[in-house]
Amino acid sequence: MKRLVILISGRGSNMEAIVEAAAAEHWAAQVVAVVSDRPDAAGLAWAAARGIRAVVVDRSQHAVRADFDRALLLAVQALQPDLVVLAGFMRILGEPFVRAFEGRLLNIHPSLLPAFPGLHTHRRALEAGCTVAGATVHFVTPALDHGPIVIQAAVPVLPGDTEATLAARVLAREHQIYPLAVRWWVEGMLSIEGLRVRHRDGAPQFLIA
Ligand code: GRF
Repeated sequence: MKRLVILISGRGSNMEAIVEAAAAEHWAAQVVAVVSDRPDAAGLAWAAARGIRAVVVDRSQHAVRADFDRALLLAVQALQPDLVVLAGFMRILGEPFVRAFEGRLLNIHPSLLPAFPGLHTHRRALEAGCTVAGATVHFVTPALDHGPIVIQAAVPVLPGDTEATLAARVLAREHQIYPLAVRWWVEGMLSIEGLRVRHRDGAPQFLIA
């Protein structure tokens, strides 16, 4: 059984999608803990209600960023994860954390990277007049929202879209591609070659809807 640890900061809908897929599809993996940098993250209660260990490393208790990073690294290492999954974790991780889990650290970002790293991706996509938007699951490297891409989902930008309607359309696809990407990792299907991620059986690493 692979040990998965999921890091969240808020709602945790991607975490839910992963937990549910792991159970429904009988993965050889278990979400052993959910870790939040905010004690009020809604996803913590959902995890605890499912009997999943909920851990808080409170960012407000660490004035210095490096101290928070160290505390988070220790807390996550103590959980002995095989894979660390960032799911709406709204904190930039320090290099020691990223290096500690190299090749075992996934993130989802609500844009078609390398477009729109950082915050407010949907607003920026609308402002830029994009006709296509989407989400990306990638391995994490020390650069923000950058790293070898595992899978991307594309959705249309429709006339009259607002940030909220576009975010909802993208989120529905996030809930499909993130569990799939984690499952691929668990099954040993992924290899990283430079900035490229290859699926051993050549499964399509995109979803276009
Ligand atoms: C998602 O859109 C994710 O891509 C982004 O933050 C949001 C988190 O949503 N990084 P949730 O907490 O998984 O519901």
